[in-house]
Amino acid sequence: MAEIAVNHSGKDKSVCVIGLGYVGLPIAMRAVERGYTVFGLDLDERKIALINDGKSPIEDAGISEELPRYPFTATTDPSIISEADIILICVPTPVDDLHMPDLGPVKGATDFIAKHAKKGALVVLESTVNPGVSEEIVKPILESAGFVVGKDMFLAHCPERINPGDKKWSVKNIPRVVGATDSIGLERAAAFYRSIVDGEIRPMKSIREAEAVKIVENSFRDINIAFVNELAKSFDQLGIDVKDVIRGAATKPFAFMAHYPSCGVGGHCIPVDPYYLIERAKLSGFDHRFLKIAREINNSMPAYTVELLQDALNSISLPLQGTKVGVLGLAYKPNVDDMRESPAEDVILALEQHSADVATFDPHVLRLSTTKTLTEILERSDALILTTAHKEFIESITPELLKEHGIRVLIDGQNAFDREAITAAGIIYKGIGR
Ligand SMILES: NC(=O)c1ccc[n+]([C@@H]2O[C@H](COP(=O)([O-])OP(=O)(O)OC[C@H]3O[C@@H](n4cnc5c(N)ncnc54)[C@H](O)[C@@H]3O)[C@@H](O)[C@H]2O)c1
Repeated sequence: MAEIAVNHSGKDKSVCVIGLGYVGLPIAMRAVERGYTVFGLDLDERKIALINDGKSPIEDAGISEELPRYPFTATTDPSIISEADIILICVPTPVDDLHMPDLGPVKGATDFIAKHAKKGALVVLESTVNPGVSEEIVKPILESAGFVVGKDMFLAHCPERINPGDKKWSVKNIPRVVGATDSIGLERAAAFYRSIVDGEIRPMKSIREAEAVKIVENSFRDINIAFVNELAKSFDQLGIDVKDVIRGAATKPFAFMAHYPSCGVGGHCIPVDPYYLIERAKLSGFDHRFLKIAREINNSMPAYTVELLQDALNSISLPLQGTKVGVLGLAYKPNVDDMRESPAEDVILALEQHSADVATFDPHVLRLSTTKTLTEILERSDALILTTAHKEFIESITPELLKEHGIRVLIDGQNAFDREAITAAGIIYKGIGR
């Protein structure tokens, strides 16, 4: 533990970002832009080499463009932490196969801090966590190394809200909430974020409140998406187009917010974060029934999508077994290469369980695509499932193109295509709830 003067002055100059992914990389660059001396720490040597070479390790036009302009030193050596006044933890918070929260990366990053941080450092956890993690997991690790949080080490939480690929909202302008274990930590953290973010920085009364904010935001999304996914299944039975209905409801100028159904919810946040609250509340004796049902409904959508395909094929006397099915999209959302928790994975699994003859194509994830061009996958497929609404698909796939390649069925897992035009071309079209 390096011994240097405790800095209570708010004049923090240096920042160490632990975890240089979708969250850590943009904030590190932004801190450079705003005049901080920045160090980056990651376990992934490939990422470190790319970053030090001025190249983005993730597909993101903004990061690729700005990294050479706002360079910083990145390393796999945790002793770099001793150089920093402020240490940001931006490591993953995934769940395991049984949906149990995995706080291993947060604990690992905190162990590094406990070993190397200088006295007086401010530690800010940016990773999404359930209420309690900062005080129940992070603080005890720091204190076990001899630090006294609130005296010679400060602890805050400022959940990241970044939406990679979003051109309007970025780390530069998304408002943030911040909570801390004491007033000095809160003041320093708020001052830091005010110096780099051109949006509101809202201090919360406690670190737990700040942790809860992020979980509430993502659970809100998960629950609303589950509602429309359930409506899609119900309206399929009733013969009502759920997309049209939601658009109709969205004409109400207040108290309605449009969410749309799809073949599943992906990404590292929405299908993950509710489990953190579910599991932590369980420890306190509370059963989050609503959140659990939402997760169950959203998790059921990939299999439901494959059932739609099976029904459509059966309606023209074709079995799913052995039919050549093309899956369009591996990423969890359009125009990015991020596959974490992507529903495409479960769609492919369900197709394989039915012994369909599956091929995949994603122009953003070519290394894992079994076909390398749109033409190639159209050529070898009898039926298609659109799992990701990449612009390459939406702009290129026309009813004529489908017809030309002999496509018999299109399952539109994102409700992105023109149903009438595709049906008029003699192709069976089925969307999610339409
Ligand atoms: N990606 C998003 O859009 C987004 C948005 C808001 C919040 N979040 C949250 O932010 C956190 C980080 O997400 P991300 O998408 O940036 O993850 P990511 O996987 O892109 O990046 C995390 C990085 O941390 C590194 N890492 C893991 N353990 C480490 C350790 N002990 N020491 C040093 N480095 C370590 C990994 O190698 C990886 O490069 C998560 O809690 C996530 O839920 C993500």
